[in-house]
Amino acid sequence: MRYITFALAKGRLAKKAMELLEQTGITCQEMKDESSRKLIFVNEEKKLKFFLAKASDVPTYVEYGAADIGVVGKDTILEEGRKLYEVLDLGMGKCRMCVAGPGTAREYLQHHELIRVASKYPNIAKDYFYNKKHQTVEIIKLNGSVELAPIVGLSEVIVDIVETGTTLKENGLEVLEEICPLSARMVVNQVSMKMENERISEIIKNLRQVIRKRDQREA
Ligand code: PRP
Repeated sequence: MRYITFALAKGRLAKKAMELLEQTGITCQEMKDESSRKLIFVNEEKKLKFFLAKASDVPTYVEYGAADIGVVGKDTILEEGRKLYEVLDLGMGKCRMCVAGPGTAREYLQHHELIRVASKYPNIAKDYFYNKKHQTVEIIKLNGSVELAPIVGLSEVIVDIVETGTTLKENGLEVLEEICPLSARMVVNQVSMKMENERISEIIKNLRQVIRKRDQREA
């Protein structure tokens, strides 16, 4: 039997995803040692491998088949535009992709003005403004702390993730338009889905059950 390999977006998401997997009987003791600098972890008994990667690289590993399964945010899946199957909404890390800015920028959006849009997600921003709104804008790619851009005059608005809205509020910004809801998803390599269908379907089925029970408890 060959190994099924999981690529997990490192950070909070990976920890939560492992907790879900654990409830389906998939564990990886090695991974719990937080002092370890190891990059790859093995469950010999179940023939599973796990590795942590930068979120934006997870779809790449999965498209090329270096990982059979990935766990990553919908934001990254949309931004990277890789060829893969999205098979499951894990229902965690729920937030929204939004256009945000000072209240005064609202009219620029209404009048479809040629404004500057700063974002860590240039592809999502481009798709939204060009294909959905048919508004010509200039997209400026940033790598973090995007809320700074309208404050210091780099751009009129931003496209960014809003979870609680606290970051926006504390910086005098607000949600101007909602682009889409986001959450963590499980993705699968297209060839693996066929070649390892039995094992992967079983994993999906068990996860779906655990998620359903969790959601019933929380309802
Ligand atoms: C994300 C996002 C916002 C913030 C939203 O930033 O880019 O800045 O979280 O959360 P809130 O609505 O609950 O305030 P992240 O922590 O990923 O850091 P970065 O964008 O600066 O890289």
